[in-house]
Amino acid sequence: MRIDILTLFPDLIHSVIKESIIGRAIESGKVEINVINFREYSTNKHKKVDDYIFGGGAGMLISVQPIYDCLQAINKSVNTKVLLTSPRGVTFNQEKAENLAHEEHLIIICGHYEGIDERVSEYLVDEEISIGDYVLTGGELAALIIVDAVSRLVPDVLNKADSHINDSFSTKLLEYPQYTRPAEYMGMKVPDVLMSGNHKEIETYRLKESIRITYKRRPDLLSKYQLNKQESKLFKEIITEEQKTVEKE
Ligand code: ADE
Repeated sequence: MRIDILTLFPDLIHSVIKESIIGRAIESGKVEINVINFREYSTNKHKKVDDYIFGGGAGMLISVQPIYDCLQAINKSVNTKVLLTSPRGVTFNQEKAENLAHEEHLIIICGHYEGIDERVSEYLVDEEISIGDYVLTGGELAALIIVDAVSRLVPDVLNKADSHINDSFSTKLLEYPQYTRPAEYMGMKVPDVLMSGNHKEIETYRLKESIRITYKRRPDLLSKYQLNKQESKLFKEIITEEQKTVEKE
């Protein structure tokens, strides 16, 4: 997969993508990321990229010209998808990440706190994406979140042990709790069943705890999830157990 990121803050992007799993994915050629400072495409003699707002209003807006020219300079295919990070966009989620991971070429334009000339979104962009209902100072962090969530889904970016198959949201239930050694630390104990070596019981425990944590933290996800026979039985047990805990409190 190739991703081109258009930004006024390339160092911010570089500082993150060189690390860890994404860094390794780039090194091994599984993901290619080009970071482009679109200021370089400004035709203004001072390399200015913003201007006053038609009709008045506080502040400045990023002009269409440097972004247009920068996009023109990028090698595209018929399948290139151009994204703009913006709090106005559709909310990013795992399903969106999975869909984007199938694309061969993404271009992500990092929005800016001042705003961008509307013609960018109207004529040059396929989709505006928001990472949540809050306003950031710029789109770089949003672009990095999209790049991270999408890159890890590209085939062979994660090794088998880190596989995304059991991810929360991929399976539509939140992930069950996991523990590592020591089995007891400062009085804090790992559940006995995980020490039992009984794989069937461990599997059932994990499924049950996945349902429990989803029920407690994200009932909206659980209500969309189709429980099978075994899961319904576990869910009934959870309801009884949770009621007992409430009564005790
Ligand atoms: N730019 C500013 N806020 C943003 C958000 N929530 N998502 C994406 N881009 C943004």
